[in-house]
Amino acid sequence: MKEIDWSNLSFGYMKTDYNVRCYYRDGKWGELELCSEETLNIHMAATCLHYGQEAFEGLKAYRGKDGKIRIFRPEANAERLQSTCRGILMPEFPTEMFCEAVKKVVKANERFIPPYESGASLYIRPLLIGTGAQVGVHPAKEYLFVVFVTPVGPYFKGGFATNPYVIIRQYDRAAPLGTGTFKVGGNYAASLRANKMAHDAGYASEFYLDAKEKKYIDECGAANFFGIKNNTYITPLSTSILPSITNRSLMQLAEDMGLKVERRPIPEEELTTFEEAGACGTAAVISPIERIDDLENQKSYVIAKDGKPGPISEKLYHKLRAIQYGDEPDPYGWVTVID
Ligand SMILES: Cc1ncc(COP(=O)(O)O)c(C=O)c1O
Repeated sequence: MKEIDWSNLSFGYMKTDYNVRCYYRDGKWGELELCSEETLNIHMAATCLHYGQEAFEGLKAYRGKDGKIRIFRPEANAERLQSTCRGILMPEFPTEMFCEAVKKVVKANERFIPPYESGASLYIRPLLIGTGAQVGVHPAKEYLFVVFVTPVGPYFKGGFATNPYVIIRQYDRAAPLGTGTFKVGGNYAASLRANKMAHDAGYASEFYLDAKEKKYIDECGAANFFGIKNNTYITPLSTSILPSITNRSLMQLAEDMGLKVERRPIPEEELTTFEEAGACGTAAVISPIERIDDLENQKSYVIAKDGKPGPISEKLYHKLRAIQYGDEPDPYGWVTVID
């Protein structure tokens, strides 16, 4: 096999040796199967192809300095997938089987887990799709759960740095009582135009306000938002954002550092008051926000006045990464270690 250049990995798909699959038939889930085939053979009338019965997850495995492999909070991803399943009427995949499948696929592809020094990791992508044929708009009777992995590079190649974001008002990602809190493909289809607009204009990502009033902060692309001021970590409370596992972990760490934590609606104008702000998610842990432009209102909220990440964001980032890579103790049992 060709040697992998660990220091030049991007966030893209690389073929690995195995994926794990599990079929739902006759009202129950079957056994986990190890598979080396990359493609799926599904019915052309499968509900995932027509009616968006599709859910996915994203988490990572890290190789520690001690050579051990650590998976970050797989139980939380299992629970979020179950919530998504309830949201679009798919059968829930049990937590224990989810964690077993994740461990199995990581172990089977061990040679693709980047070394500690590279700062890279193994991205884990579980998905659950309706495979049963259906022409009317109804949930399928058959489903397939798959989990595959691919090595991905470190988010910050040139070091932890700030990025500009742009408020997009032309398109909504999710309706207030829609599927925004679920991780379904349709939300990402709805975000493609806004995402392209932001990238074409040179921004790191699009920034969403609430769809109803366009008054409160929702999310930044595929990441949650947090702001910091007066020793307080503030993150939006909204019915249309994805409950980020990174955000939940950062709220805990912020509290441990002596910060107050607030989850509440954040009006756009409050952006002028933050000392620091960031986009948080599995991909980057924290992507510190330099500024947020509201082009239609000719406003620019500059958060990182000197262009650098703030001290609290930096501390939170290093703390969470240290837990993920096993450099520091894991007081909450977030990490599953694979020997
Ligand atoms: C829309 C959206 N928001 C937030 C997040 C961050 O969630 P997490 O921290 O669980 O990766 C993601 C990524 O999964 C996402 O796609």
